[in-house]
Amino acid sequence: MAPSPRDAKPELQEAMDETADAVNRTIERLLPDTDLAENQLYDAMRHGTLGGGKRLRPFLAIHSANLFNVDTNRSRRVAAAVEFLHCYSLIHDDLPAMDDASLRRGKPTVHKQYDEATAILAGDALLTLAFEILAESDTHEDPRVRCELIRSLGQAAGGHGMAGGQMLDLIGEKKEFDLGTISRMQRMKTGKLMAFACESGAILGKADEPHRRALRNYAFDLGLAFQVTDDILDVEADPQDTGKDGGKDAEAGKATFVSAMGKEQARERAEMIVQQAIAHLKVFEGRAQVLKDLAEYVLARRA
Ligand code: IPE
Ligand code: IPE
Ligand code: MG
Ligand code: MG
Ligand code: MG
Repeated sequence: MAPSPRDAKPELQEAMDETADAVNRTIERLLPDTDLAENQLYDAMRHGTLGGGKRLRPFLAIHSANLFNVDTNRSRRVAAAVEFLHCYSLIHDDLPAMDDASLRRGKPTVHKQYDEATAILAGDALLTLAFEILAESDTHEDPRVRCELIRSLGQAAGGHGMAGGQMLDLIGEKKEFDLGTISRMQRMKTGKLMAFACESGAILGKADEPHRRALRNYAFDLGLAFQVTDDILDVEADPQDTGKDGGKDAEAGKATFVSAMGKEQARERAEMIVQQAIAHLKVFEGRAQVLKDLAEYVLARRA
């Protein structure tokens, strides 16, 4: 595993470590080793989900739920579901047909460790497991809450969300995009799932619409800023820190904020978007400090 640089302030780092430990335990429980003939699938799912990752989406899910005093047994399940969906997106993103990457979280990508067919199936199984977890009554006793979580995750991950954004990302390798299209693509690829993670806390807590909207909008902006910093890190980060190979975007000719406006302007843009993200948290009147700190960390991160 690549050592992860510590760029967050100490209180935030502590909270991030705590969330990561909790979500790792939940994932271990949900993905037990088996002696079934098809165990290779579970091995690949464990390879793609355990041992690494910043667990940012679980952090958003758990800390937004904390704002409404949601039982952590519930928010941890949603956190694991969103992380499973994220890991599926990474496993498929790394495939030769997409970004053709060999290294992820400091380890061989799933298709390198196993094979392409196993990686496709591991992604499929993680995607469906995410929805299965949300549908179970341990996630919430109220079926309307469970349906709302399922609907929102479906919207965030599908054609109007992550999958649609990934399609644009591939089209952008061949076609010139203006800044508006790049921004829309990044919001779909990354913003929508983060927005779901954050809004899930409000859904579990049956929060009113203004609080729900504030969290959704905060994380939607945060996701855009996060993808801009990811694109900057692709150019300048140390693979020892990120656990993935650098220079992949330029090599593939991808349309990013960096390719469109250069590193410096892209960074300024990310700073502006982070301030915009933080402004959405005003309705919480100081109770969302950890989410504000997280937004600052997105700018400072080196991994
Ligand atoms: C990588 O996400 C893919 C993007 C959306 C930029 P993360 O940077 O959150 O990856 P992990 O989960 O920490 O490995
Ligand atoms: C991936 O974006 C976003 C996803 C939805 C998976 P990238 O292709 O830039 O992510 P990395 O850099 O491989 O982690
Ligand atoms: Mg990609
Ligand atoms: Mg990629
Ligand atoms: Mg990237």
